[in-house]
Order: sequence, then C-alpha cells, then structure tokens
Amino acid sequence: MAQALAVVLAAGKGTRMRSKTPKVLHKVGGRAMVDHVLAAAAEAGVSRAALVVGPEAPWAAGRAGDALSLHVQAEQKGTAHAVLAAREAFAADLDAVVVLFGDNPLVTAATIDRMVERVVGGADLAVLAFRTAAPTGYGRLLLDENGHVRAIREERDASEEERAVTLCNSGVMAIRAGAPLEALESIGADNAKGEYYLTDLVAIGVERGFDMVWEEASPAEVMGVNDRAQLAEAEAEFQRRARARALETATLIAPETVYFSHDTVIGEDVLIEPNVVFGTGVRVGDGATVHAFTHLVDTVVSPGAAVGPFARSRGGTSVGPGSKIGNFVELKNAALAPGVKISHLSYIGDAVVGAAANIGAGTITCNYDGVAKHRTEIGAGAFIGSNSALVAPVTIGEGAFVASGSVITEDVPANALALARGRQATKPDRSPLKPKS
Ligand code: UD1
Ligand code: CA
Repeated sequence: MAQALAVVLAAGKGTRMRSKTPKVLHKVGGRAMVDHVLAAAAEAGVSRAALVVGPEAPWAAGRAGDALSLHVQAEQKGTAHAVLAAREAFAADLDAVVVLFGDNPLVTAATIDRMVERVVGGADLAVLAFRTAAPTGYGRLLLDENGHVRAIREERDASEEERAVTLCNSGVMAIRAGAPLEALESIGADNAKGEYYLTDLVAIGVERGFDMVWEEASPAEVMGVNDRAQLAEAEAEFQRRARARALETATLIAPETVYFSHDTVIGEDVLIEPNVVFGTGVRVGDGATVHAFTHLVDTVVSPGAAVGPFARSRGGTSVGPGSKIGNFVELKNAALAPGVKISHLSYIGDAVVGAAANIGAGTITCNYDGVAKHRTEIGAGAFIGSNSALVAPVTIGEGAFVASGSVITEDVPANALALARGRQATKPDRSPLKPKS
C-alpha cells in the first residue's frame, strides 16, 4: 500500500475573521473547521497526518496522537513555508504528501484519495481545482493550449486578464515524494505578499519537467473560509449535505429549517418536524418523532419516543423508548426510563426518572441551591401532580403519588402519598364586598 502523509495547514492568522478565536477553530456543523479536515484525512487512505500550527496554539495539543504529529510554524511566511514546517514528518518510505488547508472544512475523504491516487498512479504533482463565477481571492489555474496547468497565480499578483480566469486553486495538492517534494525548498517569496507560496510549485514544475495534472471538485466542496460570510456559506453547504443524509431514513417536513451537527445520528422512520436544531451529540432512534421548534444537545432520543414541540434538552440526557416529552419541557442531565411522560411546562434536571412515571404539568426539579447541583430520583410508576417543586436532593419512591402543588423537601417512600401544600380553607356564605362610600 502507498504511504501518504496529509499535511494540514492551520497556522495562518485568519485576520479577516476579526476574531479572538483562531480561524480554523471556528465551527461548521458544531465542529472546528480543522477537525473536519483532520477527520476527512483520517477517513481517507493516508497513513499519517501532520498538523502545522502557529506558536500559540494550545488547542492543537489535544489533537496529536499516533497518527497525527504537530509542527510549529513560528512565523507565517506562506503556504509553502508552512508545508516545510512539517518536514520532520516526511519519512523515508513516503510516496506522496497531500496538502490540505485547515480552512477548507468540507473537503471529503474521497477527494483526498483521488488526489493521492493521481500521484501514486504516476503524476509528480496533482492540483485540485474548482470553477466559480466569483473567483475573487482565489489563486487561478493558468493552463496551456493543451489544458495542462502551467502556473497558479494568486489574486494579488494576477493581471486583469488572469483575474478573468474562473478556474481556481482549491489548495488541495498532492506531491510526489522525492524531487517534487524537495522542490518546495526552491520556492521564493518574490510576490505581492512577500510570502512563500505553495502554488509556485507549479511554475517550478514546468521548468523541471514535472508531470503535473489537475482534477476538478465542486466549489461547494472546496471553498475556503477566510471571513465570516464564507463561514456562513460553508455552514449552509454542510447543512445541505446533512439534510440529504437525514432524508435517506427520516421524513423531514421542511428540511431547510432543520439544523444538524457533524455527529447527529438519525435512525429509520424518524419524523422531524420543521424548525428543529440538533446541537452536538444527538442520536434519534428508529421510529422517534421530533416535533417542531425543538432544540436538542447531547441527548439520546430512544426508539419510539417523541419530543416537542418546543422542547429543549441541554445535554447529558436520554429519553427512554416510547417516552413522551411535550411542549415547554426543559431537560438537563436527565435519564428517563421507557414510557415516561412529561407533557407540559417542566424542568427536569440532574434527575433519574423510572419507567412509566408521569410528571405533571409545571413540575420543577429544584436542583440548584445557589452553590451545588443535587439529584432527584423518581421511581418507576410514580405520579407527580402538577405544579410540584421537588427540592433536591430528594427521592420519590416507586409508585408514589405527589399531590399537585406540593413542595417536596423530604423523600417519599414507595407507594406513599405525599401532600406538601397549604390546606384549603373554605368559608361558607362570604358576604359580597361593599364599595367604599
Ligand atoms: C490559498 C491559496 C490559493 C487558493 C486558496 C483556496 C496559496 C499561496 N494560495 O489562498 O491559491 O485559491 O488558498 O482557499 O497557497 N497557512 C499557514 N501558514 C502560513 C500561511 C497559511 O498555516 O504561513 C494556512 C492557513 O491557516 C490556511 C491555509 O494555510 O488554513 C491557507 O492560507 P490562506 O492564507 O487562507 O490562503 P489563501 O489566501 O486563502
Ligand atoms: Ca484561505
């Protein structure tokens, strides 16, 4: 098998984002752009990856592993300089290096493989291009009359005629190990930005007679993110893909109003109503329904369960099979067994709820005392009357019944009835109020 190394460039400052957050950490589908690229590289057939970061990148440390090495580019002197910062990762047995940009979040494993294959198949250099009616900002591929790539011209260095070219450089480039890879050292910084451009490898390749090919990808896949408008475009494309994937198994009444994260898992025969947001860490089981205007994070919705409309789960939550979570219910760190019903206007946090328990409208777990969070346990088959406050830590036993309007501060044993509210006083024959004279 061919040995390929993916070099992921992520040291650029990304000043046009105008952000304290490094550009490549801005998220698409709830995941940092650079993590999308690293995931695509891992999924592709490359043997290892090298991540190039700036000197202040504490975020990168957590990403390193057996298959991923970290390299610091102390000063950002351009994309060729950045690739060379990963020199140490160029092992002797290497066949190809594929360069990926951390700000190309939507590049796919299949495309990475396709580029590596061109080099494994004999090319010295393979450039991934795309066509767009709005090429501003991208490097342009300059072709000869035979359609061979002869140079890549950066926007700032391009003549007016060259700027009219709509065939653009995506940034993805596969380079054969040996002479083509060594040619990176020959790249100069004689351009408008005074940077070492990776793209100049093409002009050098012409001089040295390299066999250079180019492949085309859709602009949606390889668009680069330099500012927040492009970040929003990348997000839109991510969502288009995610909706298409969800539609393979689920019914989405208005797919364009449903937002997914990179790790959302949707089962078969799921119904998703309009205006639903899936934050990260959500799994929806077979046959479940997510009603309109529901917002879920880090939540498992088990098969046959229903949540919403207007439900919110803030995370650490599992909704048991067949359970029903209704409108204006907020869940946080709650483990709900099968067949639980929480139909209206409740907050259930830091709680365990047993099978088939029924939580009446307006029930609140008072989980926070201003200092610490406390747990509430509700046994199987318990019935919590409407408008009850369960002051945690507290346990409601199996089959227990809490009368509505109770403020429960002490544990309720199994099968007990707990009333914790003022007694009703009813006085007969009230005299009508007399207006003051
Ligand atoms: C680059 C390409 C351009 C292409 C476009 C596609 C070059 C010279 N230009 O331009 O042809 O059309 O991408 O999106 O390659 N980086 C470093 N260290 C550096 C400089 C950059 O790590 O010294 C990283 C950045 O973090 C980024 C990537 O390399 O992830 C690309 O750099 P960027 O400055 O965004 O290049 P573009 O101007 O977009
Ligand atoms: Ca860019």
